[in-house]
Amino acid sequence: MVILSGTPVSYWIDSTPENNFSPFVDNLLVDVAIVGAGIAGLTAATLLKRAGKTVAVIESKQIATGTSGHTTAKVTSLHQLIYADLIEQLGKEKARIYAESNQAAIDRVAQFVEEERIECDFSRQSAYTFAEFPEDLKKIEAEVEAAIALGLPASFVKETSLPFSIAGAVKFDNQAQFHVRKYLLHLAKNILGNGSYLFEETRVEAVEEGNPSQVKTNKGVVRAQDVIVTTNLPILNEGLFFAKTYPKRSYIVAAPIDPAKAPEGMFIGIDNRYRSIRTTPYDGGLLLLVGGEGHKTGTVEDTEKCYLRLEEYARSRFGVDSFAYRWSTQDMVSFDKLPYIGKLTPFNNHIYVATGFSLWGMTKGTLSGMLLSDLILGRNNPWADLCDATRATPFVSQTSIKENADVAVHWLGDRFKGLTSSLASVSQGEGKLVTVDGKKVAAYRDEGGTIHAVSATCTHLGCIVNWNSAEKSWDCPCHGARFSCDGEVLHGPAIDNLEKINPKQS
Ligand SMILES: Cc1cc2nc3c(=O)[nH]c(=O)nc-3n(C[C@H](O)[C@H](O)[C@H](O)COP(=O)(O)OP(=O)(O)OC[C@H]3O[C@@H](n4cnc5c(N)ncnc54)[C@H](O)[C@@H]3O)c2cc1C
Ligand code: FES
Repeated sequence: MVILSGTPVSYWIDSTPENNFSPFVDNLLVDVAIVGAGIAGLTAATLLKRAGKTVAVIESKQIATGTSGHTTAKVTSLHQLIYADLIEQLGKEKARIYAESNQAAIDRVAQFVEEERIECDFSRQSAYTFAEFPEDLKKIEAEVEAAIALGLPASFVKETSLPFSIAGAVKFDNQAQFHVRKYLLHLAKNILGNGSYLFEETRVEAVEEGNPSQVKTNKGVVRAQDVIVTTNLPILNEGLFFAKTYPKRSYIVAAPIDPAKAPEGMFIGIDNRYRSIRTTPYDGGLLLLVGGEGHKTGTVEDTEKCYLRLEEYARSRFGVDSFAYRWSTQDMVSFDKLPYIGKLTPFNNHIYVATGFSLWGMTKGTLSGMLLSDLILGRNNPWADLCDATRATPFVSQTSIKENADVAVHWLGDRFKGLTSSLASVSQGEGKLVTVDGKKVAAYRDEGGTIHAVSATCTHLGCIVNWNSAEKSWDCPCHGARFSCDGEVLHGPAIDNLEKINPKQS
């Protein structure tokens, strides 16, 4: 059995209070209901409340414990390498709007921090995308050229404070980093009061547009003129966002580092081999965060290896010896690189969504809050057309065809997994697909020998879930829903838990 280092919890969550607000208990009427309390939902709620609207934020778990509570929390418009591609694929004007909206989001965060004196370790930093090998320099140079042409604060550098040499990097000045959960808990606290509410442990099960619209939760109905669904991937299937994006999971390890040896700034490598690097204040010193090992959710079983490779990188490159934390999370990647922010479908006038932040939601979640609040307040927003959630979707791009074909393969092919295995064949510490009374069952035998058996059929659209060994969870390879070994929903778009199976054959 692999023993991983570090407490398996996000540092942002471990260093802040867990439960902050009560569940919903009664019926309620507000101007705007917001489903999901991550950075997108809480930013929208803050701006709408400031504009005089009453809001109700409804969260199925705790505030900012979804993807936003597990991020690396760099607030930057340097999104690895994107601007040269955007100019080529969409043209200079659309690329400029993308750049402008993300820069505006950094300023929005900085303004909130300043106006409300939010103690969230916010600091201005330079951001770098670096290439270690000379053969990759052309990509870096093209990105610098594109970013400068779009008016971004970009330059080419060969020297950084990383403790290893690089071939070259794109550098963006005046970007930022923060403690994301301290920031979001502060926004949340200010949403409460004067007819506005925030509910935790309240799961939304359906939304019906009307006058007013109805948000049906497991605790009662919230009625609202407008509804914003910011559940990372919308829990509503109507907009087909599950087919316009795919879920990417990625890992982070965190180790105390001698401040004299710590890099200054925020760094990310290129391509899928990337490592994402930053530090954060910790225990009077600094904590080094190293992220990477991204893959489509539900397609890698031996996820312990992802952590081990990150540990090895942190030890060999930064000389750290012990790890305080490790965690992982996922985000929806949009096929055309742009987020989906706006109306759920062309036929909806009062239901809005925000998704497809492609692992850069500290800015895109913030700008989605700015954009959606403008739409609801009837104000013009210069980014609305670019991000329009109802825009024609590139179903025919190479990546989208591959990802959607993969979904079809999983939907059909995974039904043949575990046909000949029984509960008795599951070893201690193992998660495995087995067949019980002709039913496909996801079974995990814990270290004490107890079997945890649940239906293997995802409650979203019926794909078969796969085991994730490091997180001890069942992850759906189709659209990224995740469930605990006892079947509880850990991550949407699924709303319902996996059915429990009586492990009579164990
Ligand atoms: C490993 C990793 C590192 C990252 N690092 C960065 C970074 O450095 N900088 C950056 O800009 N971006 C980063 N990102 C991306 C960024 O973290 C996300 O884009 C962003 O946090 C998404 O915010 P959100 O509000 O859409 O989703 P979430 O934060 O997941 O919020 C959605 C909320 O909805 C709730 N919910 C779900 N279903 C229901 C329901 N039925 N009823 C009620 N509530 C529900 C969930 O519990 C959750 O709290 C990273 C992503 C990953 C995977
Ligand atoms: S997440 Fe869509 S079928 Fe499982």
